[in-house]
Amino acid sequence: MVGRVVVTGASSGIGAATVRLFRDRGWDVVAVARREDRLRELAARTGATWFRADVTSDGDVAALRAHVESTGGLHALVNNAGGAFGLDTVEAGSVDDWQRMFDVNVLGTKRVTAALLPSLREGAEEAGIADVVTVTSIAGHVAYENGGGYVAAKSAEHALVAVLRLELAGEPIRVVEIAPGMVRTDEFSLVRFGGDQERADAVYADVDGPLVAEDVAESIVHAVGLPRHVNLDLVTVKPVAQAATYKVARGPLTVRRG
Ligand SMILES: NC(=O)c1ccc[n+]([C@@H]2O[C@H](COP(=O)([O-])OP(=O)(O)OC[C@H]3O[C@@H](n4cnc5c(N)ncnc54)[C@H](OP(=O)(O)O)[C@@H]3O)[C@@H](O)[C@H]2O)c1
Repeated sequence: MVGRVVVTGASSGIGAATVRLFRDRGWDVVAVARREDRLRELAARTGATWFRADVTSDGDVAALRAHVESTGGLHALVNNAGGAFGLDTVEAGSVDDWQRMFDVNVLGTKRVTAALLPSLREGAEEAGIADVVTVTSIAGHVAYENGGGYVAAKSAEHALVAVLRLELAGEPIRVVEIAPGMVRTDEFSLVRFGGDQERADAVYADVDGPLVAEDVAESIVHAVGLPRHVNLDLVTVKPVAQAATYKVARGPLTVRRG
């Protein structure tokens, strides 16, 4: 099936790759983020449409809802806007950073999902199925030291997805969680470390094949393309070099003998 999908956090990384892949597969795409220049460029390259919205703003998300309702049907939503701010202990971490992480990852996902569910219901009636795909993180499943705010926010986002799936049971709407491990995107670690490129690069140093944005986009688009009776509840996708959030092999992957 192809239809129309809203992708949040579309101006970079996983979101932009997801927009490109959906377009390649023939979907109509509404790309959503705050940076208009990026969205305009992505739209020009892919044929997606775009809408500027901050998912932490009630007004922006209400405007997104009105835009979606006035421009056609909706068959899938990808809640991808999110991110980490800081890498600190629970004791030392900034409450402001924690607030921002909850605002974008948890409340942003709640706000956009609630706003677009009426359109998704219409899409599901028309096409037989609709999808809510949310990009959480393995941080939402396994704790790691100094990750407190992000671990807590992504755990809450995971819980939101689980509750939503229960609440929508009986409707032809799939609720999918994609939980990536380490993905080398241009901005994720840069944003986390407040623009410190050296610190951002160190995250991926000597890792033999961190995931790239396109790997996660493949999982998202695959889930939405499955037969309508199949729901991938939770997809955990990690690089081979990463066994857990806190256990990443550095150096080339090599076979151990004996
Ligand atoms: N990279 C990783 O290692 C990794 C691992 C696991 C999970 N994830 C998750 O995957 C998602 C995408 O990550 P990424 O690596 O692609 O990071 P990224 O390149 O930093 O992308 C984040 C996207 O979210 C958008 N965004 C941020 N705040 C927003 C807001 N308030 N309203 C609307 N859009 C907002 C940003 O665009 P604007 O700034 O233009 O708004 C950007 O397009 C996030 O939810 C992240 O937590 C990433």
